[in-house]
Amino acid sequence: MALVSVRNLEMRFGERLIQRDISFDVEPGRIFVVMGGSGCGKSTLLKHMIGLIEPAAGSVSYDGRDYWQADGAGRMQLRENFGVLFQGAALWSSMTLLENVCVPLERKGRLDRAAREEKARELLDLVGLGRFADFFPADISGGMKKRAGLARAIAGEPRLLFLDEPSAGLDPISSKRLDDLILELRDRTGAAVVMVTHELPSIFAIADDGIFLDADSKHPIAHGNPRTLRDRCQHPTVRAFLRREALADAEASEARIAPPNRKDSA
Ligand SMILES: Nc1ncnc2c1ncn2[C@@H]1O[C@H](COP(=O)(O)OP(=O)(O)OP(=O)(O)O)[C@@H](O)[C@H]1O
Ligand SMILES: [Mg+2]
Repeated sequence: MALVSVRNLEMRFGERLIQRDISFDVEPGRIFVVMGGSGCGKSTLLKHMIGLIEPAAGSVSYDGRDYWQADGAGRMQLRENFGVLFQGAALWSSMTLLENVCVPLERKGRLDRAAREEKARELLDLVGLGRFADFFPADISGGMKKRAGLARAIAGEPRLLFLDEPSAGLDPISSKRLDDLILELRDRTGAAVVMVTHELPSIFAIADDGIFLDADSKHPIAHGNPRTLRDRCQHPTVRAFLRREALADAEASEARIAPPNRKDSA
């Protein structure tokens, strides 16, 4: 059974439609990417998947359990499986990195203070921030904040890790390092990862599967392995994104190769 199943999800803010007809599964141990242009609804999709926003229609289920059909206690139980790195890392600015990473450990409540701190130090070591445990978020770089956010997201040993643009704004070496870290974590814990990213090297290097949301039509226009989509998908927007083709070129080549009445899907 899929760890996460999204079915016919419709996302709205009030009357305003953001996306509709989103359906996909994420299996344990897989890395799933959410792609699409700025403002198409990627972060909003993540917020629907972690129970922050209720769908306008459709469902999000974990191990076959519909999140919004569960009662308060059931939802809380489901949320315990999630680790989240929000876009912008969102560390608590009044806490040191060590204290930030301790928060999810405290919530789990299984460890005493000394054990929590030891575990938090291990996690900071893992993301290369062992020497910065006592620093505040304002005193470290953007890339370091992302890595601290990642350490915090994985602290509760989640079965599902949600990462919103983990490598945005990082130099290529830091970005590659973050990818390696995500792969290592996936391999070590068997967690599934749902990740929003624009970084093509990252997408092609680590993603098993993914979905492409379109801001114009307000529904997904491609779903599958990103390398396969890059090689086979003929939708001009997907080509422009995954091949970095100029949109006009992608549209022109689509016009040459597409049969009439082609469906807008990979
Ligand atoms: N809380 C909110 N209330 C109303 N509208 C919102 C809210 N959050 C997001 N939106 C709108 O929903 C749309 C999708 O936003 P979202 O942040 O999901 O985009 P995104 O794909 O993550 O973009 P980016 O790549 O820039 O991060 C945008 O038009 C945004 O203005
Ligand atoms: Mg976003």
